[in-house]
Amino acid sequence: MTSNRKHWDRIFGNTADSNLGWYEKNPDQTLELLDQIPEWKQSVIFLPGVGTSVLVEELLSRGASLVINDISAEALNRVKDRLRDNGKTVESLCRDISQPITKTLPDIGIWIDRAVLHFLTEEDDIVGYFNNVKSILRTGGHAIFAEFSKTGAEKCAGLTLHRYSIEELEERLGPAFKLISHFDYTYINPNGDPRPYIYTLFKREK
Ligand SMILES: C[S@@+](CC[C@H](N)C(=O)[O-])C[C@H]1O[C@@H](n2cnc3c(N)ncnc32)[C@H](O)[C@@H]1O
Repeated sequence: MTSNRKHWDRIFGNTADSNLGWYEKNPDQTLELLDQIPEWKQSVIFLPGVGTSVLVEELLSRGASLVINDISAEALNRVKDRLRDNGKTVESLCRDISQPITKTLPDIGIWIDRAVLHFLTEEDDIVGYFNNVKSILRTGGHAIFAEFSKTGAEKCAGLTLHRYSIEELEERLGPAFKLISHFDYTYINPNGDPRPYIYTLFKREK
């Protein structure tokens, strides 16, 4: 495992959301891709590394159902506290997404990863992650990956990254997944530094 629980718990325990290097007030780019999926609000959405993202509230307010996961209990507790204050709950897991998720989950129609996959740098962990995508996401479902692009920074949160091209995502997903849409987006972090991402939407056809 290349990005560990304690490291992430320490970050989430010591940093206000708006100072996190990946904080976004509006997850507009993710919502733009979701809007390309027919009837996406009827799907159960899986977030493999939710962090403390406000995407959770954005999705719930649109009527979607969620299963959230993160390696950090600290991050999950912050999200759950926020939801509880608003009278909402979601199913949550605290797992390393590079390891097999054996728990029985609802039928997952959409997988949304923003800035999680690129923290896995060991080949076994990357393969384990994609095995989870393939075992958790139903046929006909969609996956969004928003990762640092090849021109992006080499490190984030003190960790070395594995940056992605569209070609590598396609290769790792295999022929059952079809690329539906993609765009480049340069996120400006709270320090004012540009962080180039690729945003991609795939459909699992088989
Ligand atoms: C840069 S943050 C992004 C959080 C959120 N997706 C967002 O866009 O705000 C990366 C997240 O991935 C989680 N993470 C890192 N490695 C993980 C792993 N192996 N399994 C599950 N979550 C992981 C971290 O705890 C953190 O919440």
